[in-house]
Amino acid sequence: MKEVGKIWMNGKLVPFKDAKVHVLTHALHYSTAVFEGIRCYNTPKGSAIFRLPEHVDRLFRSAKMYSMKMQFSKDQITDGIIKTVKASSLKECYIRPLAYYGYGTMGLTPTPNKVDVSIACWEWKLGESKAGKLTGARCKISSWLRIDSRSQPMQAKAASNYANAALARVEALNNGYDEAIMLNYHGKITEGSAENIFVIRNGEIFTPPLTSGILEGITRDSAIQILAANGQNVIERELDRDDLYSADEIFMTGTAAEVKSVSQVDDIVIGDGKIGMTTKQLQKSFMDVAMGKDERFVHWLKYI
Ligand SMILES: Cc1ncc(COP(=O)(O)O)c(C=O)c1O
Repeated sequence: MKEVGKIWMNGKLVPFKDAKVHVLTHALHYSTAVFEGIRCYNTPKGSAIFRLPEHVDRLFRSAKMYSMKMQFSKDQITDGIIKTVKASSLKECYIRPLAYYGYGTMGLTPTPNKVDVSIACWEWKLGESKAGKLTGARCKISSWLRIDSRSQPMQAKAASNYANAALARVEALNNGYDEAIMLNYHGKITEGSAENIFVIRNGEIFTPPLTSGILEGITRDSAIQILAANGQNVIERELDRDDLYSADEIFMTGTAAEVKSVSQVDDIVIGDGKIGMTTKQLQKSFMDVAMGKDERFVHWLKYI
């Protein structure tokens, strides 16, 4: 981790190396935190944060689902994000706002503790998605099932969801794959450990609906809107494992991943094993949008 700039902690910008919490911070023990992942792009017209209001809205929705009382307004968090990026002097970066139950009282009940908020940013060009952008990612259907909304609100971007995702990611890596794809309790496809998933077959594009128990991805929504604007509709329907094995193309979307191609699922090669035509076009269209080169979507960029 390159320590650059400052980190916003409860309204104050502190030097990167001083952004510390107490070891008895509640969230560290009980996963009582919600967060966001946002990208700032170095566009020809200057640095721009991608879909900032949507990310701030989701952070607050996530907090609400966990009854967390935010001590800052959406405007204050938005301002904090912009200030943090500016203080980093980075032209492009990944931004991580985090709201968490802090230090105070120990024990499971989080509510006696204050909800602290931090905002950090760092350079993270390819995210963890080298495979997927430069070549296709090799994915493993995880033996871990995706937890679902009967246990936790899956539309919240909550730290607690990521223990399950990390198990799947590590299992995939340990087995020589690049990423995991998780099934829900009904055997339906949900998502990758940190990305939504799309399947293309015979020219039709499918993605699991929110009711499959997925995160309501902002890149997922961006992809659906960009594809629609380019005349390609996405069909939301439950997908089975065989839909992956028989696909012509598969791609994944996420803020860190952007649009990444999947070339293999388990031991089945997808298409010809190379990045498919639709995926390639979408990767280009998405980057055009992120770079402010597509007039139809410039409203998604907040120039700072
Ligand atoms: C489990 C999961 N699904 C989907 C996504 C994609 O969401 P977004 O496009 O909003 O980054 C993420 C992003 O981190 C994720 O962690």
